[in-house]
Amino acid sequence: MLSNPNHAPAPSQMLPLYDDAMSVDEQSELASIMSGSYGFARPASSVTSNSEMMRPASPARSLLSMTDSRLAASFRQEYGRHLNNYSEVYRLPADDEELTRLNKQHLMFQRVMGKYPPGLEEVLTPDNVETKTVVDLGCGSGSWIFDVARDFPESSCLAIDLVPMQSTSMPPNCRSEVDDINLGLQHYFGQFNVVHSRLVCTGVKDYPGLVDQIALVLRSRGLLSLTEHNFYVYGEDKKQIMGDDFNPNGPFLPQWMAVARNAMRRHGADVDAAHRLHEWVKDHPDFEDTIYRDFWLPVSPWKKGDDAETRVFNEVGEACREDLTAFLESGRPLLLSAGVKESFLNELETKARREMEEARTPLYVLVENVVARRKRW
Ligand SMILES: C[S@@+](CC[C@H](N)C(=O)[O-])C[C@H]1O[C@@H](n2cnc3c(N)ncnc32)[C@H](O)[C@@H]1O
Repeated sequence: MLSNPNHAPAPSQMLPLYDDAMSVDEQSELASIMSGSYGFARPASSVTSNSEMMRPASPARSLLSMTDSRLAASFRQEYGRHLNNYSEVYRLPADDEELTRLNKQHLMFQRVMGKYPPGLEEVLTPDNVETKTVVDLGCGSGSWIFDVARDFPESSCLAIDLVPMQSTSMPPNCRSEVDDINLGLQHYFGQFNVVHSRLVCTGVKDYPGLVDQIALVLRSRGLLSLTEHNFYVYGEDKKQIMGDDFNPNGPFLPQWMAVARNAMRRHGADVDAAHRLHEWVKDHPDFEDTIYRDFWLPVSPWKKGDDAETRVFNEVGEACREDLTAFLESGRPLLLSAGVKESFLNELETKARREMEEARTPLYVLVENVVARRKRW
């Protein structure tokens, strides 16, 4: 399929990516992201609330230690990777390899976006009124919420994800719960000063509905921070490269992303969320003081020059390339289970990887962040 870069494909060869039939409309839809994580390490305790029957009335209830069998039941193996066993929507791995990717990605985001969203330190400054509380929805490896727990030791932190967190390094003021945030957040209403969520849209069915739920979870003047990636790739002019139609001349990363967006859609994910976050929050009657920030990450160190600014740019490009290269691997279960042909995927993956290694094609990915405060209530 991608084997002869010198020939444009005949119409019948366009997008023969899927084993089963898929309409052109479905094929040409948008959006996708990087994702997912966990270690099988040991210790710590977790709350499980992943089924309606098991959902606790409050985050403090049903604290239990993970037994080996419960832990094993949380994961399933697909195409050589471990995935969560609860959600049919979120299909990125939840294994050590993914955990490592997320930890490195976290450091890259810290560098590009700063450690915390604007306003977080103010909101978490201790007072005599209440213990300040923070929840991270879809916490992954826990890198963000662990930082908060360590930097704000008087706060109380909650890490929520589809799979149990068994980290040995969970700070004492942090606890974890297994939960599917698609099922609603009623059991957390009115309980948090900060709600953070980053790169979860691949596992979320109704993102505006999630924003509504978060508004109810936040305390008066609480802080919301949402960060998403739209799974598009952009050219040097920062114009979107669709990638929906097969182009043997590349660029190939946009084509891989187009296939990933379609696969995520097929699994029911709200992959267009990144572009609409700002509008959903700004126009929401319960939020105020909305801040929108966009971050353009070069997908490889493609910029020429040796001045300080170019060096920093290319360092971010190197980190992003490492992340995306690992993400190509992480996406295999998602894409293969959506029916993408393995031979096609292997070739597209190889070409996208080579393109980033060569660092000659000027490409960006975009990460969007929205921060807002809950109106007084
Ligand atoms: C790409 S990772 C990002 C992890 C972390 N937020 C970060 O930025 O490093 C997405 C995480 O969200 C979790 N997730 C996705 N959908 C979810 C859902 N419906 N409920 C709870 N967690 C979810 C996944 O299990 C995964 O750990």
